[in-house]
Amino acid sequence: MQTFEIRGSINISRLIIGEKLTNLSTYLPESQTVIITDTVVKRLYQHMFPQAEVITIGCGEKIKTLDTVRQIYEQLIASDMDRTGFIVGIGGGIVCDITGFVASTYMRGLRFGFVASTLLAQVDASVGGKNGVNLGGFKNMVGVFNQPDFVICDITLLPTLANREILCGFAEIIKHALIADADMFRYLEENSSQALALNPQVIEKLVADSIRIKSGVVTRDEHEQGERRKLNFGHTIGHALEKTTGIPHGEAVSVGMAAATALSAAKGFLSSQDAMRITDLIRCYQLPTHSDVHFEQLYAAMQKDKKRTGEKIRFVFLKRLGEALVEALTFDELNELLSTTLSD
Ligand SMILES: NC(=O)c1ccc[n+]([C@@H]2O[C@H](COP(=O)([O-])OP(=O)(O)OC[C@H]3O[C@@H](n4cnc5c(N)ncnc54)[C@H](O)[C@@H]3O)[C@@H](O)[C@H]2O)c1
Ligand SMILES: [Zn+2]
Repeated sequence: MQTFEIRGSINISRLIIGEKLTNLSTYLPESQTVIITDTVVKRLYQHMFPQAEVITIGCGEKIKTLDTVRQIYEQLIASDMDRTGFIVGIGGGIVCDITGFVASTYMRGLRFGFVASTLLAQVDASVGGKNGVNLGGFKNMVGVFNQPDFVICDITLLPTLANREILCGFAEIIKHALIADADMFRYLEENSSQALALNPQVIEKLVADSIRIKSGVVTRDEHEQGERRKLNFGHTIGHALEKTTGIPHGEAVSVGMAAATALSAAKGFLSSQDAMRITDLIRCYQLPTHSDVHFEQLYAAMQKDKKRTGEKIRFVFLKRLGEALVEALTFDELNELLSTTLSD
């Protein structure tokens, strides 16, 4: 078991890797506790939940809305939940994002925690204190920064996940290695078959490495004023691709990382050998590095990116393996780079 901390502006959040859902009750206060989960996680794991009221939501991005949030508020009111209560989200990124938002806003905020049950939630979504929901076709448009008291990453929950969901988690794990840790990159290269087979020691190390990297970045820059932007590596192009094609986030980010790798090589930061190692690694984890969408369509979608500031977009390059660099580019510069690098 390994523990990391995020020192947020309001509280300290503990991230515990290798802890079990069955021990959740030992982390809960004496006060009234409500569990939020989704139908799939409830069906698979309710027998491990502690004694507490359970609010169940549906599955999928389409339920990550203010409507679902309102329904949860109403159930909390019906249960006489007050500000002394505690809310735990047990599930993937969607449950965590919604739980964090509900807990941060219901009665102006009460304490909360997560048991992250997908690889993506363990290495990314549950870590960092971004909570929120979608609005009007825009992802994560409404939300807050607020850290949970604890995040439990129980890796024994992962084998029931669909393979495609596991792979999306690996995309973010690879991202963490690329932006921050060349040793982790080598470990990913050397242990791909055990990682893909969900070998517990290998997965626990990769989850811990990811959380160490992300929690460090978030502690230094909770509100994304600077360094936290590096976590968007692969995401500018990834989000555009996700929007234009509807492919899963992790797959879109993988193509985005491959493209950002090519742009980093074109800028002269990365050697062609390292760029090749990166695309090989992404492929080795059964993730895509190419898309048939024409770059002009992607470019149009990127111009709508909510991370743009005026005429510029902050693009994350790799300075070298294990080190990222954020540069503000004009759309003309980005278009130029994209068209010369990706148009073949
Ligand atoms: N807040 C953040 O910083 C952050 C970062 C990355 C992603 N996200 C958000 O996370 C969401 C995606 O998260 P996700 O990929 O975990 O998706 P998800 O929560 O939809 O989970 C994927 C599917 O797996 C099921 N599931 C969950 N745990 C399971 C288990 N142990 N066994 C079998 N099935 C299980 C779920 O019911 C769901 O159907 C997106 O909405 C994204 O915006 C947030
Ligand atoms: Zn992502």
